Amino acid sequence: MAAASATTLSVGSATTFGSILSSKSQSNTSAVKYNTRNYLRNFSGLKAEAFVRCESESSFLGRESAAALRQSITPNAQIGKQKSWNHVWPQASYKVAILGAAGGIGQSLALLIKMSPLVSSLHLYDIANVKGVAADLSHCNTPAQVVDFTGASELANCLKGVDVVVIPAGIPRKPGMTRDDLFNINANIVKGLVEAVADNCPDAFIHIISNPVNSTVPIAAEVLKQKGVYDPKKLFGVTTLDVVRANTFITQKKNLRLIDVDVPVVGGHAGITILPLLSKSKPSTTFTDEEVQELTVRIQNAGTEVVEAKAGAGSATLSMAYAAARFVESSLRAIDGDADVYECTYVESNLTELPFFASRVKLGRNGVEALISSDLNGLTEYEQKALEALKPELKASIEEGIAYAQKGIVTA
Ligand SMILES: NC(=O)c1ccc[n+]([C@@H]2O[C@H](COP(=O)([O-])OP(=O)(O)OC[C@H]3O[C@@H](n4cnc5c(N)ncnc54)[C@H](O)[C@@H]3O)[C@@H](O)[C@H]2O)c1
Repeated sequence: MAAASATTLSVGSATTFGSILSSKSQSNTSAVKYNTRNYLRNFSGLKAEAFVRCESESSFLGRESAAALRQSITPNAQIGKQKSWNHVWPQASYKVAILGAAGGIGQSLALLIKMSPLVSSLHLYDIANVKGVAADLSHCNTPAQVVDFTGASELANCLKGVDVVVIPAGIPRKPGMTRDDLFNINANIVKGLVEAVADNCPDAFIHIISNPVNSTVPIAAEVLKQKGVYDPKKLFGVTTLDVVRANTFITQKKNLRLIDVDVPVVGGHAGITILPLLSKSKPSTTFTDEEVQELTVRIQNAGTEVVEAKAGAGSATLSMAYAAARFVESSLRAIDGDADVYECTYVESNLTELPFFASRVKLGRNGVEALISSDLNGLTEYEQKALEALKPELKASIEEGIAYAQKGIVTA
């Protein structure tokens, strides 16, 4: 089959993207036929692995799957100009830094970003143990050059010229801890790291993963304001994991095709402030009141599910890394000129009376191009009540973060 033509994959139902791709060579038992090129353009999951260039194009994806995926995420404008597949490969030209790269999220995230052909340079920073992570990762034959930086004296060099900075530095939640229990330690870590970002790469997209995101993003905003470099379009709280979980749980519950499902999740990133808008799910799906209640609560408490299952060994790292990699990939695609990039993220916002709010946004070269307000129109009674109920908690977390950054004090 010619590389440019659509490819048909055999896909089992309720499966992961990885297994979608690998299933091509497997038997067709209980399989569903997908036209890859059309379906994957709309797929909201991480696509970058399909980009990884191997000399022979004989990667684990298979040549046709990779080609179809490449085409599915190439901006429309470029497709018309392509004469051969050589022109389809994106240029590996962006620099990404991970601060907290030796941690549970940081290591897995570094691996996923190392697989992106959009990344020419991957800077890994931590206060300890990052040299080994970088040495290990640098042996993967993908384009990104991996460079390690340890300790405060190397932070400035890590950040110079970087396009996207991802911050998963901090301590994770342990059983019995709420996200707010993390506040004192992580607030201080984020404050220090964002000061360095302001001094060394003020134009970078900043992705905050360290919890409590509801407060650490306002802290970061205040730090950037104090340094005179705040651009609200480029500061993001990473809430992608809430969307990833919503998509997974709803796919399973309603036996939908994974590749079609996309659920906006708005509000914040802790407990009841996480509000999945099931009435706005794609594809349009009917839920009973019980299903709405069950799914909403599961999505809101999914972090606790993992914390308890890990029984003291940390919080979500693998799914978080996957979600963060998707958000990095979306940001790089937007910076690279793809005009069709939408993600849910926690940003400065005027969609409600709260100064920060997670919603779908359109991403562009300079960050947030538009907040998508339509998701908040025509909410169900359940969603409208949940939206009002989350506001006091989210407001308090925002104020706590701002007060901390302005005065260096904890108000809670
Ligand atoms: N946004 C989300 O959806 C989400 C999901 C899961 C976890 N998290 C949060 O992500 C953070 C990291 O979680 P983890 O499981 O990777 O923790 P971890 O303890 O495994 O890793 C944290 C890393 O940060 C490093 N670190 C600490 N202080 C630092 C500093 N000043 N500069 C640079 N690095 C520093 C540590 O050395 C460690 O390597 C936690 O705050 C956790 O709550 C967020």
